[in-house]
Amino acid sequence: MLGSQLNVSPLVATLRTLSWGDALSCTAKLAIAPYPESSPVVAAKPQTIKFLQQPTSPQWVEMALSHLDTILLDHSHCERKAAGVALNLMFRYPSNSKLVRQLTAIAQEELEHFEQVNQILERRGIPLGPLSAPPYAATLKAQIRPQEPDRLLDSLLISALIEARSHERLGLLGEFCPEPELAKFYRSLMASEARHYGIYWVLATTYFDPETVTQRLQQLATVESDILATLHPEPRIHS
Ligand SMILES: [Fe+2]
Ligand SMILES: [Fe+2]
Repeated sequence: MLGSQLNVSPLVATLRTLSWGDALSCTAKLAIAPYPESSPVVAAKPQTIKFLQQPTSPQWVEMALSHLDTILLDHSHCERKAAGVALNLMFRYPSNSKLVRQLTAIAQEELEHFEQVNQILERRGIPLGPLSAPPYAATLKAQIRPQEPDRLLDSLLISALIEARSHERLGLLGEFCPEPELAKFYRSLMASEARHYGIYWVLATTYFDPETVTQRLQQLATVESDILATLHPEPRIHS
C-alpha cells in the first residue's frame, strides 16, 4: 500500500484526526501542505485529506510533470465530464430543489474551468483531441448500487471522492509544476474543487442520515484509493 511505503508527516497525522466537518471547513488551507523544500518529489512525504484514504504517490506527480501537455488535455476532458455529471444528476433528480440549485452552480463552474483549460491548450497549440480514459471513473461508477435511494447516495459520494482527488492532485501540480503561470492556474482551481466535494458531501447528508453517509463513504473511499494504488501507465489526472 502506498501509505505504508512512505512516512506520514505530523501534519498529515493531525489531519487524519479531524472530523469530516473540520476537514471541509479547513481543506483549502490544509489539504496540500508543502513537501519539504530539500526533498525531490520522489522522496516527498504524502499529504492527504480526510475524504481520501490514501494520498497520491510521488510517482504520479513525477509522471504528470513529465507529461504536462497530456495532463492538460486530460484535465480539459475531466472538467467537461464534471459538468456533465452535475447536469445528469439534475436531470435524474429534478424535484430535489437543493440538489438542483447546488449542482447548477457546480456545472457552471466546471464549464468555466473547461473554458480556462481550453484557452491554455490553445495557447500551447494543443488540439482538443480524444484521449483514452483511465479505469478510475468507470471503476468507481461500477460501485453505484442500482436501486434508489442507494443510487443517489452512491452517486453523490463518488462525485465527492472524485472532486476531492482532483482537488488534491491539482494542488500537487500547483505546488510542483515548474512553469509558474501554469502552477498559478492549478492553485487557482483548488478552492473550487474543494468546495465541490464539500457540496456533494453536504448534499449526501441532506438526503441521508450521517451514519449511513459515513459508512458508505468509508467503503467507497477504500475502493477509490485501491484503484490508484496501481499507477495507470498513461499520464492522466486520475492515473
Ligand atoms: Fe473543475
Ligand atoms: Fe469540480
